[in-house]
Amino acid sequence: MTQKTYFITTYGCQMNEHDSERMAGMLEADGYAKAAAADEADVVLFNTCCIREKADTRLYGNLGHAKAIKDKRPDMRIVVGGCLAQKDKSIIQQRAPYVDVVLGTHNLASLPRLLSESTDEPAFEILEQTEVFPSALPARRKSPWHAWVSISIGCNNSCTFCIVPAVRGKEVSRRLGDIVSEVESLVSEGVVEVTLLGQNVNSYGRDLDGKPLFAQLLRALDTVDGLERVRFTSPHPKDFRADSVAAMAESRVVCEHIHLPVQAGSDRVLKRMKRAYSRERYMEKVRMIRDAIPTVAITTDIIVGFPGETEEDFQQTLSLVEEARYDGAYTFQYSPRPMTEAAGMTGHLPKDVVQERYDRLTAMQERISLEHNLAAVGRAEELIVEGLSKKDPEKLTGRTRTNKLVHFRGSGLSEGSFCKVRIDRASPHHLEGSLVERGRPATARKLTLPLASTGSACTSC
Ligand code: 5AD
Ligand code: SF4
Repeated sequence: MTQKTYFITTYGCQMNEHDSERMAGMLEADGYAKAAAADEADVVLFNTCCIREKADTRLYGNLGHAKAIKDKRPDMRIVVGGCLAQKDKSIIQQRAPYVDVVLGTHNLASLPRLLSESTDEPAFEILEQTEVFPSALPARRKSPWHAWVSISIGCNNSCTFCIVPAVRGKEVSRRLGDIVSEVESLVSEGVVEVTLLGQNVNSYGRDLDGKPLFAQLLRALDTVDGLERVRFTSPHPKDFRADSVAAMAESRVVCEHIHLPVQAGSDRVLKRMKRAYSRERYMEKVRMIRDAIPTVAITTDIIVGFPGETEEDFQQTLSLVEEARYDGAYTFQYSPRPMTEAAGMTGHLPKDVVQERYDRLTAMQERISLEHNLAAVGRAEELIVEGLSKKDPEKLTGRTRTNKLVHFRGSGLSEGSFCKVRIDRASPHHLEGSLVERGRPATARKLTLPLASTGSACTSC
């Protein structure tokens, strides 16, 4: 009998990447192999996102394509999972009755069972609460040297533009010991870098016995032998405090990069967004981080055209961007999302106004990103090699601890290996360099303070 195959298309954020790796892991544990393309697979999965884009249009377009294949190969199974499935189970049932399995964000673990139940009729199952933490499921990782590690799921905030709390539910943290054990076992399999995932990594542990702090988790990971880099995404500025900054600064493994979403520079808009910080409070955090970690790269998320945003509000965003001097920013045009407070607000802006502001913002950020990158020219940087450059297959691409992409010439360097390059040229989104050293340069361990010095277990803001 030939081996059954699967193909997963993933939309959206790193959490979805992580969840797709778990779906792949469960299918492989059940004897499936990865297909080269969706057209050839026995099971075609769509792991959907509904945060911003017109995900519905995209999904139904792709489902239409999958249906055309299924018409020719009726045994093919179509699965829809992720945030859009969580939100729209019955709509999918109506609009795409040929879909075999729908599962939400809380029941990834049910995939093998739902697939086997769907032989005669579709199996649709959406839960309101997570039953099995996705990290407890088998994974089929894309990378041999990097792994996503989820530390919490869900979000207890209520940012008025954001659909995440409605589809990912209340925040649930994973036990610190379980996270460290997972990282140790990943390292024993050859992983050198992990990215910790959570909607709000800094409120990690508040729901657990003993209320472990995010800073404690960072320091615990610093003791894992063989682990070289730790990244995390994303902290919420309101919860990002001195103890986490100290842990970042003092832990050898924690990279000098922080993604600190600001969303807007005007206090009036921040209030309407219910972000729970002012521009000044946010800038205090930026200064605190830069003081503690002078080489840090700071990136952010910004929404342009939030309902009621005036030109004056937008000017505040521009001046904040100038003041914070981000290394990079993900910039988004506001899009109303169902089940969010902002969708019902007055003052939705015309598309051309939003586009024009968006263009001004991205031009400013490109200039600042380029200034940062030009300052790196002449410096020697440690990289982990990620593979062949997508721009020029004659070159390799690696990433600095500050999360910058560097293209360089180098043969015989495998994916996941370390090297040192000198930076020769800069663009807003990447650097170019020349190889100066192969292998992991010996670095001194940073001073690591004992856990007791990370502050109290106070978790109030
Ligand atoms: N419109 C535009 N951008 C949004 N984001 C979240 N919701 C919306 C929305 N309704 C952006 C925020 C968030 C990032 C993941 O997506 O900037 O930080
Ligand atoms: Fe959404 Fe705000 Fe939670 Fe981030 S913190 S997931 S923006 S509600």
